[in-house]
Amino acid sequence: MRAQVAIIGAGPAGLLLGQLLYKAGIDAVILEQRTPDYVLGRIRAGVLEQGTVDILDLAGVSERLHAHALIHEGVEIGAGGQRHRIALKELVGKVVTVYGQTEVTRDLMDARAACGAPSIYEAESVELHDITSAHPSVTFVHKGVKQRLECDFIAGCDGYYGVSRRSIPPEALSLFERTYPFGWLGVLADVPPAWDELIYADSERGFALASMRSETRVRCYVQCSLDDKVEEWSDDRFWAEFKRRVGEDVAARMTIGPSLEKSIAPLRSFVAEPMRYGQLFLAGDAAHIVPPTGAKGLNLAASDVFYLHEALTGYYKGDSRVALDHYSGRALRRVWQAVRFSWWMTSLLHRFPGEDPFTSRIRVAELEYLFSSEAAQRKLAENYVGLPL
Ligand code: APR
Ligand code: PHB
Repeated sequence: MRAQVAIIGAGPAGLLLGQLLYKAGIDAVILEQRTPDYVLGRIRAGVLEQGTVDILDLAGVSERLHAHALIHEGVEIGAGGQRHRIALKELVGKVVTVYGQTEVTRDLMDARAACGAPSIYEAESVELHDITSAHPSVTFVHKGVKQRLECDFIAGCDGYYGVSRRSIPPEALSLFERTYPFGWLGVLADVPPAWDELIYADSERGFALASMRSETRVRCYVQCSLDDKVEEWSDDRFWAEFKRRVGEDVAARMTIGPSLEKSIAPLRSFVAEPMRYGQLFLAGDAAHIVPPTGAKGLNLAASDVFYLHEALTGYYKGDSRVALDHYSGRALRRVWQAVRFSWWMTSLLHRFPGEDPFTSRIRVAELEYLFSSEAAQRKLAENYVGLPL
């Protein structure tokens, strides 16, 4: 087999790149180790920056999004038993779009199927070869048969646990990491949200987030211990804990229902530099992870892919390789801004086990400053809606 670009991974990054390249007349094959149903079954975040919506528009996959997504002009921060609205639109003139990553993925899968571009699911034992030569290739086993895909470039869109980053010699990468001593327990349920905008709540019992997927479906989280097991959290226990953290008024008016999905995710910040090695380009979670507090994971995957598609399109149009050479630096500048913001939001809104009194006071002072200063609110808003691409 031969393609101009081999894309490893059919998460949002790989699928979006595939669609943008298809539109540009560049042929790509996507290799994914799981089944489509497995990929769609992963419940992830649901807040899109305007820049991400623009990229989905460019890829021609936003019809359902524009019909069904919710537009939010603000976001609420709870602390000290009170809630404060950050008026995103008033402060920075931009809004966020609430639309689940599962839906984004489904729209991208449908578009790819409709245009007939090749995706190979259940591709096992994916291996990258001759990455630093002009003729790299990828081998894999599909339905028991070993195959080779020859290509000009490889896009490593295979997430944190993928094979692409691991194919780069360790001495060629610098890794930056921060783990946080807690996780998020998330529940998806078919009940109408008792909140109009997302609520990020700090409480004595730890953080909680009230989010939504539609007018009839909520996504809620509570900060939990890394030792917690999902089985220990019955729906009743989850909702009782969520209510104690989110604020009394919200708790009093909310409806609860059985969980459709429940999972625990540890929080971490991670960056691998550079995002390129030879003909291999990393994008999305393969190169970086942010804690979900700033809702940046999917948005960063989209901006990486946008830069990469521009660089590849430029190359095939006959421009030089300059844009390819600038890809990593350009993407990383944006990545570090999101890493900084997600780390700040996480530190501001979570109780760290064993937190020392000085750190606690600084956190409270930072919250008070946020609630009393328009400049501080504008800073949060500017970052939350997304810095320019
Ligand atoms: N071979 C082929 N495919 C692989 C391999 C492999 N060795 N390893 C992983 N994959 C696939 C995974 O099964 C997954 O479908 O790569 C895909 C990576 O998708 P994601 O993990 O969703 O990563 P990405 O597309 O970068 O999306 C980033 O997802 O985790 C969230 O917060 C993150 O919202 C962000 C988004
Ligand atoms: C979600 O809806 O799942 C969600 C929203 C905002 C976040 C994280 C997750 O910051």
